[in-house]
Amino acid sequence: MVQIVHLNGRFMPLEEATIPVLDRGFIFGDGVYEVIPVYSRRPFRLAEHLRRLQNSLDGIGLNNPHTEAEWDILLQQLIAQNEGEDQYLYLHITRGVAKRDHAFPKVVVPTVFLMSSPLLSPPAELKATGVTAITAQDNRWLRCDIKAISLLPNVLLRQQAVAAGTMEAILVRDGFMTEGSASNIFVVQNGTVLAPPKNNLMLPGITYDLILELAAAERIPLRVGPVPEAALRSADEIWLTSSTREVLPITVLDDQPVGAGQPGPLFKRMDTLYQNYKATVMRQAD
Ligand code: PDD
Repeated sequence: MVQIVHLNGRFMPLEEATIPVLDRGFIFGDGVYEVIPVYSRRPFRLAEHLRRLQNSLDGIGLNNPHTEAEWDILLQQLIAQNEGEDQYLYLHITRGVAKRDHAFPKVVVPTVFLMSSPLLSPPAELKATGVTAITAQDNRWLRCDIKAISLLPNVLLRQQAVAAGTMEAILVRDGFMTEGSASNIFVVQNGTVLAPPKNNLMLPGITYDLILELAAAERIPLRVGPVPEAALRSADEIWLTSSTREVLPITVLDDQPVGAGQPGPLFKRMDTLYQNYKATVMRQAD
């Protein structure tokens, strides 16, 4: 089946979507993006993703090209034109095409590119065995709260993880854990879930918020605050979260077992809560 995308007001097969080389997204990485999971053809936590998109746009001084109602319609149309009950939506907005000059153009016509791809939930095997990670110095800029398309540092860090035969790089800045190269990270110590605070040093994950909500609702002990690197290294459990990977246990860090080297009891509890929440939300939408 042909993958249908949306570019600047038109739906078309992916192969037909092209942009001018002077697009500021191509030239400067001057733009922002979102990734939204879709289950049973319904976007998951859409309002939250659109709010974060607005924050990212505000962060780079770019007007939102669409109202929330318009986004809703566009995304529904995109979902309907693509195969699969579960998809993930990629929204990409740049500061448009202009003569190459770092400063903003006087007149901005943003480029809007929307794509849907099949979403495969993490295989049960990954949850049963856990995944591996390395630590790396967080050498990104100081506005990691903006979901910017200029991802070169994240790309290099993730590649470092892949080159080491692992799935993720957990980033450490000034002795504290920030997040993963493409995920948020939680640590469990003595039955308490530790989460780094939402600030300019990490992306405020939509999944991160959901994990905090679920933990609070279940009265799972939770502490949101700076997580020292030492806590990461002596963790009983480490979790990775993102919209496409949900919650995964990290069982090996820098070649050392995390806790018992197996997915821990709190991970299993949180994964069940997460799956139940997903199922409930989808039923309510029927
Ligand atoms: N990335 N931190 C970073 C740096 C990320 O790139 C992501 C997700 C997250 C998790 O955010 P959320 O729970 O809202 O997906 C945290 C997406 C999936 C990506 O770039 O493909």
